[in-house]
Parts: sequence; structure tokens; C-alpha cells
Amino acid sequence: MPTQRRILVTSALPYANGPLHLGHMLEQVQTDIWVRFQRSKGNSCLYICADDAHGTAIMLAAQSQKLSPEEYINSIWQQHKQDSSAFSIDFSTFYTTHSTENREWSRRIYTRLKENDDIASRKITQAFDPKEQLFLADRFIKGTCPNCRAEDQYGDNCEVCGATYNPSDLINPVSIISGETPIQKESEHFFFKLQNYQTELEEWIKSGTLQPQVANKLSEWIEMGLQDWDISRDGPYFGFEIPDTLDKFFYVWLDAPIGYIASFEHYCKQAEFDFNEYWSEKSDTELYHFIGKDIVNFHGLFWPAILKSSNLRTPTGIFVHGFLTVNGAKMSKSRGTFIKASTYLKHLDSDYLRYYFAAKLNGTVDDIDLNLEDFVQRVNSDLVGKVVNIASRCAGFIDKSFENRLSSDCGEETLIKVFTSASENISQLYEAREFNKAIRSVMELADRANQYINDKKPWVLAKNTNYKDEVHSICSVGLNLFRILMIYLKPVLPKMSVEAEKFLNCRLDWSNLGELLIDHELNKFKPLITRIDANVVNMMIEESKIDEEPDKQSKNSNDLITIEDFSKIDIRIGEIVAAELVENADKLLRLRVNLGELGERQILSAIRAHYLPEDLIGRLTLVIANLKPRKMRFGISEGMLLMTGDESQLYLLSPDSGARAGMLVS
Ligand code: MSP
Ligand code: ZN
Repeated sequence: MPTQRRILVTSALPYANGPLHLGHMLEQVQTDIWVRFQRSKGNSCLYICADDAHGTAIMLAAQSQKLSPEEYINSIWQQHKQDSSAFSIDFSTFYTTHSTENREWSRRIYTRLKENDDIASRKITQAFDPKEQLFLADRFIKGTCPNCRAEDQYGDNCEVCGATYNPSDLINPVSIISGETPIQKESEHFFFKLQNYQTELEEWIKSGTLQPQVANKLSEWIEMGLQDWDISRDGPYFGFEIPDTLDKFFYVWLDAPIGYIASFEHYCKQAEFDFNEYWSEKSDTELYHFIGKDIVNFHGLFWPAILKSSNLRTPTGIFVHGFLTVNGAKMSKSRGTFIKASTYLKHLDSDYLRYYFAAKLNGTVDDIDLNLEDFVQRVNSDLVGKVVNIASRCAGFIDKSFENRLSSDCGEETLIKVFTSASENISQLYEAREFNKAIRSVMELADRANQYINDKKPWVLAKNTNYKDEVHSICSVGLNLFRILMIYLKPVLPKMSVEAEKFLNCRLDWSNLGELLIDHELNKFKPLITRIDANVVNMMIEESKIDEEPDKQSKNSNDLITIEDFSKIDIRIGEIVAAELVENADKLLRLRVNLGELGERQILSAIRAHYLPEDLIGRLTLVIANLKPRKMRFGISEGMLLMTGDESQLYLLSPDSGARAGMLVS
């Protein structure tokens, strides 16, 4: 019996300012599969999570709903807990950072940092909302990009040209809270002196426990020079007050990871675990943080440095995953691909998505795409078509002819050996978070099991009573193979496993993988999982579109316009009544276009290479009638013709016969 490992695992603490979405679920599912795998191998594996309840965003969200921050975070906490549990996320505890334990730990750790001379204080100047009397974080200021002049850009970077800058560089900055122009105001801040831990951090990065991409990124940051980290915020702020200061609070990112410790301590109060065994500097337990690639700096630099300074253990590993995209693009509210966990659950079973995520997840930080067509196809063909199919093909015979009892001897030792001996390899793949490869191995075995049944054709043999024993044996082998596959899939498919356990009338237990079901009574077979209907997926997308508040829609997406945006363009049918060459302009034609009630316009159009003037006269085409007139060297152009084509050839668009000059195009 291998010695039992003691493992403590966390997922990043979701912000308590909105519902969980499928991106959050990717992380929790990844963590949960790993945790369930560890437990199935007999290891002790605790899984701690909590809501990250502090910060300005949460304070303002509460205000806008006319709730106290406590009321607000409490209602979000309920929702988060419910969604995670519906996805079978098996937390040991799901707590909150707004707890007495966390307040104490944050103070304790801050005091230790101060004692170690790791805290500096100095005055800084910052944007301040004069109306709300609030210091403004970069994300709370918007204005025109100093680089490309795009309007409505955040204070830290431009989503149009990608430039990064300081909020003070923005042209016409406004506070997004009050709409007022921010003023600059000075106040004292506290900083964590990260450079004090440069050597320790370098060692930690070199220790080989981090993913190579992550280690490289961290080294780059260190080479660029470690800066002091601002860990304080001025009130009003929803968070913990810093001891011995007036109206200063810990920045949410200081107390958030401390929430891992505090939530674990909370858990220890209700369960028989020794806090120090897990967090003391000399701990011989393992600690892993599962996080997304956007928060690597907090977990890979600040967090280990703070733990060092506080004489606490550092993580054994940080497991970073990439971002979830849907249909190849960033999740988008207007496309309906920003799918809330609760919306998904209204339409689909959580095991489907757990399976799909597992089939795609690996140990790297690469993004993971949820392609909805592939999702339907994959779940239907793998889970229903391959795995459940084995059971459903065999169960009927066992029930009908053998009183639901498996045969008393199970042949096919070689085949069964192939299945049991895959255990080692599949375990290693789970351990390394190469879930996609683990799933592939299991599906290869499922193919073999189906092939075996195809070759033996029990449905043919069953017609002849002479072959009764053979049928019994084939179907018993089939169901034993099914059992082994389900043991391998159990960390991924908790709900389906429960159904399989009921049917097989036994626990799916990795530790007795090789103990076959012999002369064993089954329960009535019920389809363990049903096919996904693609229409249901479409309904989920439609509902996700409806979810979106209309005013946010146009702000959030640069690539989509609303019907209101479109209706700003006045497109008309125009009749070209005159056309001539333009002297000294070898690309242009000068056109006169009749727009019916709007009168005639002069339009200068770069189509000389494609049309002879005389061929255009009398033609109807599409014109943008409300384009700002453009002054060119050769006169004013008062509209634009719509064309199609490429560089080599342009084509005028013509309406069908019946259309008349001046008609509106919509
Ligand atoms: N509150 C912080 C974490 C504090 S940990 C001490 C936070 N919260 S979050 O709600 O924004 O994100 C929680 C986790 O979900 C993070 O690990 C983040 O990377 C992950 N994801 C959020 N959106 C995601 C995707 N679209 N795809 C995959 N993971 C994503 O950050
Ligand atoms: Zn820009």
C-alpha cells in the first residue's frame, strides 16, 4: 500500500460581484477532477475555495442595488455555492474572504511583514472623484485614447489599439461612477517591498515545480525589476481596515490569497485537521493553487514572497490554465456565448460539460475552446455512443435471460488485462493534468469493448438456446469492461457514476479495479445519460443573449452593432444621371446621382478603372445618403456608392427591377 499523500488544493476565489460563468467552471471542473482523482487513489485531498468579497467594484455593485455590501456578497455567495454544487464541485469548504478568520490572518500577516521591514509608506498622487469623494482605480476612469483617439477607453489600456498608459494620459478623462472629471489628490499608501524576496523568488522559479511557460513569464518580470506593491486603499472601501491607520484598507489582492489560509482554518474548526500541519514553514503536506493565466503575478510573485516573510509554507505548485473561449472567440454577451453557469444548468446536464472540458484540458496554459457543435457531437458519440452503449447492449440480455445475474466465470482474461493494465498510465495522465490524453486512452478502450461485442454478436447467438452460456459470458465480460471504464471516468462524471453504481450494484472504486463482478446481481438498467439535442444548445445561447442588459451591449463589443446603430445609416436607391472623367484624377469619376425626394447629389467615386462613364448613365444603385460631405481636391463628394469586389475588380450593386430612385434601403 503506497503511503497516503496529504494534499491541500484551491481554486481561485471568484469575485463576489457577479454570477459564475463557464470560464469559472472550467477552472473549478479542472480542479475538481484532479481532487476526485487524488481521493479515488486513496490520498487525502482537501479542496478549499471561497468568494473574494472585497474591493471597490463590489462596493459599487452593492450600492447600485441599494444593498449593504454584506447583504450583496451574501446573496452572491448563495448563488455561487449553488452553481458550483450543481456542477458537482466537491469543495471541502466554500467560505468567504469577508470573515473574522481572514481579518485576523490579514492583520497577523501584515504585522509580520512590518516587523520584517517589508512595508514602506509614502505619499502618492492619484485620480480622485470630487463628487463621490473616492479615489479612482484605473478601471474606473474612461476617456479618449492618447494614442489612437478612440473614445470611451479605460484608464489603463486601449481596447482598440492596445496601447497601455496612465489614467492621467487620457484625453478628457471622466469618472465612470459620477461622470465628473477626476482631480489629482495626494494620500499616503503602504507598499510591500517585493525586492526583498528577489533571491527567494528566483530560487522558487528555478525549482522546476512551475509550468515552463509560467516560470518564463515570472523570470521576465523579475528581470524587468521588481517594484514595490501598493497594498493599501483609501476609504471608502469595502475591505479590512489596516491596523493603526485612519481610513486605510488592505487592497483586495492582499487579503484574497490570505483567504485560502483563513478558509482552511475555518474548515479545521469543523473537521479533524491540524492547521499547522498544513501551513507551517516545515509542513510536509502538498499545497497546489489552480488559477487562470490572468492572475499569475499575484500567485507567482506576491503570494510566495508574503508567505516567506510570514514564516508560512509556500505552494508546492501553481497549476495555471488558459482561458475559455466559445466557438473560437472570447465569450461575448451579444453573441450569447457569455454563458452563466446557471443558464447552462437550466438546459443541460453538468456531466456533459465536465466531460467536454476533460477531453480538452491539458497541463499547459493554452486557451481551451468550447466549440458548441463539437461539444454536442463529442458528448453524443463518446459518452452515449461508446461508453453507455456497452452497458445498454449487454444489460438487456442479462436481465431477460439470466435474472440480471452476471455469469459465474468471466473469460477473456487477456482482454480484461488490457483494460486493467491501462490503470497506471491513466493515473499518470490524471496526475499530470493531461486529462485530454486520459480521456483519449479511455475512449480507445471503449472502442475495443464495442469491437469485442460486435465480433461476438450476442444478438445473433441469443436466437439459439444452444449458445445461452456464450451469450451470458459475452455480456458479463462487456459489463465488466464497462465497470472498469467507469472507474477511470468517475473523477470526470460524478453524476453518471452514481447511476452506474446503482445499475452495477457496486462501488466504482479504483483500489479494487481488478476485482471482477462474478456471479453478481445487477439492478435494472436505465439509460445513464441521454443524447444532447442541438436545439437545446441553441436555446441556451438565445437565453444568454436575452440576459444582456441592452445598454451594455453596444459598449462591450467593438465588433457588433445594434439595430439602432444600423438605422443611423441612410441607404437609398440612386439613379446615376450623369458620369464623367475627372481631370488629373486617374481613379475618379464624377457622378450626378438622383436620390428622389432628397434631390441630386455630386458623388466622386474611385471606379474609373472599372466602368466607362457612358455605361453607368441610367443605372440604379445603392448610395449612402447621409455621409458627411467630403471636400476633395476635385470638388465636394456628397455621398458614397456601395460596391463589392476586391482590389482587381469592383462591382456596382443594383436593385431588382421595380425599385425607384430615392427608395430607402433597410
Ligand atoms: N478574485 C480573483 C482571484 C483571487 S484568488 C486569491 C479573481 N476572480 S475572478 O472571478 O475574476 O476569476 C476567478 C478565476 O476564474 C481566475 O482563476 C480566473 O483566471 C478564472 N477565469 C475567469 N474567466 C475565465 C475564463 N474565461 N476562462 C478560464 N478561466 C477564467 O481573479
Ligand atoms: Zn487607442
